[in-house]
Amino acid sequence: MSPFDIAPAKTGDTFVRHDPNFLNMVFGTDQVTPLWVADMDFAVANPIQEELLRLANRGQFAYEFNSKGVFAAISTWFKRRHNLSLDPEKLVQVPGVLTAIAMLIRELTEPGNGVLMQVPAYHQFGKVISTAGRNIVKSPLRNVESSYEMDFDDLDVKLSAPDVEAMILCNPHNPVGRVWRKDELEKLVEIANRHSVTIISDEIHSDIIYTGHRFTSLMALDPKNHVSVIGSPAKTFGMHSISNGYVYTANQELLDRFKKTAESMYLTHGNAFTTFATIAAYEKGEAWVDELITYLEGTVAWIFRFLQEELPAIKMSPVEGTYQVWLDCTATGLAGDDLKATLGESGFGATPGTWFDQDATTFIRVNIAAPRADIEKAFRKFKTAMDQAMEARAQGAAPVAQKACAVASTNSCC
Ligand SMILES: Cc1ncc(COP(=O)(O)O)c(C=O)c1O
Repeated sequence: MSPFDIAPAKTGDTFVRHDPNFLNMVFGTDQVTPLWVADMDFAVANPIQEELLRLANRGQFAYEFNSKGVFAAISTWFKRRHNLSLDPEKLVQVPGVLTAIAMLIRELTEPGNGVLMQVPAYHQFGKVISTAGRNIVKSPLRNVESSYEMDFDDLDVKLSAPDVEAMILCNPHNPVGRVWRKDELEKLVEIANRHSVTIISDEIHSDIIYTGHRFTSLMALDPKNHVSVIGSPAKTFGMHSISNGYVYTANQELLDRFKKTAESMYLTHGNAFTTFATIAAYEKGEAWVDELITYLEGTVAWIFRFLQEELPAIKMSPVEGTYQVWLDCTATGLAGDDLKATLGESGFGATPGTWFDQDATTFIRVNIAAPRADIEKAFRKFKTAMDQAMEARAQGAAPVAQKACAVASTNSCC
């Protein structure tokens, strides 16, 4: 038995993922296995919990900062895990990855400029661009036999537009699970440099990498022209509500400017819980992460087999990293509201693909960071409902999508 087979009880907690109000809003019912919000149903590693208890047990919360300790811990981690040499002096701490991206967009572009993102895209990217008063420029990824590739021709055209000065890269990619290869990133960097576009590389998922794949940070390729949001412990260690975002660039001018803005807003020092839990995570959480990855790989393998044997109409994109699984339900004939209704009716709380790309009406994203037994049970119920829906469709029955699934992504995370 794995420690990841057990999820802590959630009595009285107000986690977004499990909140009945959100579940009702998204799925039309709260009777679902929540496989949507991209956090974990697992307990954090013991050293993190022990550190948080130590801090709480002191019973005093005096001003206490230790960014240097965090930067040292991040740098050591990235050297060991990814063979990436970071200069701790080039890291800036801000309260979250989205905060970092929102600030960088404002530093790098003017209101009315375009900022490119590749779709399907983590749905907050669109919001972070538009709420900054910039225009969303979309470059669709190419779906090649269920896997995804960057469309370099499209990127070349769209990044050449005079008003596009920045793009957001998601590496590894949420939701399609690609871990971009070095040669792909080199090609992207070449295009971006040719058009003087700065890449904001969101690397929050960089530590969840499966066997046979290797994470390449943009900072290993061209840290002088681009910037990474590197080293957030959120996804790696399940510290979603207590983590920061760490920005890294070797572009001294951008670094100075960004630091100045962040300091002027008093954003750079974090709080003691986040600071010391982050250090504990990077210094003492490695064995836990290795075990987590092995567990997730087992879950991916189970889903792959299950779909092949029981639901062959659904295709899973190869999962190279992240704990998100991207499923193509096109061959089931169900799309849009019908597909959403089937999710709600079967209690399969996956995220509709339209959150990530308005055209992805036949896709869903499944968060697999939950005990395997929960995942298996949810998939079995989903299969029964999908079989019935497909059968009804074959018989010419009217669409089932009558339950109001208000799938607007109203929350500000996930
Ligand atoms: C790609 C990506 N970036 C950023 C975030 C959110 O990061 P933060 O909570 O630090 O703002 C998520 C959360 O799911 C994500 O998947």
